[in-house]
Amino acid sequence: MQYLTMNDGNKIPQLGYGVFQMSSADVEKHLSEAIAAGYTHIDTANAYYNEVAVGKAIKASGAKREDLFVTSKLFPQDYPYQKCKAAIDATLERLDMDYLDLLLFHQPYGEYVDGWRAMEEAVREGKVRSIGLSNFNERKIRQILDVATIRPAVIQVEINPRWNQHSLKAAFADEHFVWEGWYPLGHGDKELLAMPVFKELGEKYGKTAAQIILRWHMQEGNVVFPKTLNPQHMADNADIFDFKLTDDEMAAINWIPQKPYYTVPDEAPAWVWGPNDYSQQA
Ligand SMILES: NC(=O)c1ccc[n+]([C@@H]2O[C@H](COP(=O)([O-])OP(=O)(O)OC[C@H]3O[C@@H](n4cnc5c(N)ncnc54)[C@H](OP(=O)(O)O)[C@@H]3O)[C@@H](O)[C@H]2O)c1
Repeated sequence: MQYLTMNDGNKIPQLGYGVFQMSSADVEKHLSEAIAAGYTHIDTANAYYNEVAVGKAIKASGAKREDLFVTSKLFPQDYPYQKCKAAIDATLERLDMDYLDLLLFHQPYGEYVDGWRAMEEAVREGKVRSIGLSNFNERKIRQILDVATIRPAVIQVEINPRWNQHSLKAAFADEHFVWEGWYPLGHGDKELLAMPVFKELGEKYGKTAAQIILRWHMQEGNVVFPKTLNPQHMADNADIFDFKLTDDEMAAINWIPQKPYYTVPDEAPAWVWGPNDYSQQA
């Protein structure tokens, strides 16, 4: 496994397993398979409603807590300072853990500036090792930087060959953020996977299109946690460390016209403020 070092000195595995849109039953089955296959980095969120199952799969795996890297994320209803403190404790309780490796604000709405203080306190209290932001744009990241006494270590945004985030990354080159990419395989977009550049490079290296894309992520310096329920894909996605794309091949992938799959609105869409009783998990 390759690790990156974050701006707070902690290390993060560059490849992991994401559990977005997975039921608790799916998590218990497939996350257990992923841990058995050697995945050590798990990305979940309060809003995935499967943290209890993540905790159970981890316990059942027999893996040592210190050998795993576990991320969760809070939703905007829980950003106000007092609520944020309670939400962090509730997250640990659902996961049945003493600490999180990484905690993110999931969406850039509501009282995130106020809540950041609670995130910093959680680090000082040992409840969380690293903190960061997800889906925040440049202006909103700077609002956090203006108040931070502990700077975000990680920014998680959509990243894939169709949306490489080079300009957002360049805007924060001095911060040494670790960039995590969601939709690393375009959410499984068949048109992306069928692009000739990935087919040609796959033939050259004896790899699938998905493996070429994941290798591109590694060389771009991104952290990714592709989601899969397919054991072959799970094995393939981890088998990307025995070859290297050339600079020209990286450039060819970076020529792909840029367009995000999802544009994060500046104002909160209505669904953000929907029900969020995370104690209700099947
Ligand atoms: N912060 C945020 O707002 C946010 C948003 C979205 C996602 N995320 C995180 O990012 C993770 C990944 O995103 P995602 O799950 O939406 O998208 P993704 O990982 O880009 O794509 C998942 C899809 O790709 C397919 N796939 C996986 N490996 C494959 C392979 N080797 N070959 C062909 N197809 C493959 C899977 O199908 P099979 O099951 O058939 O393999 C699945 O349909 C999530 O699980 C979550 O942890 C965060």
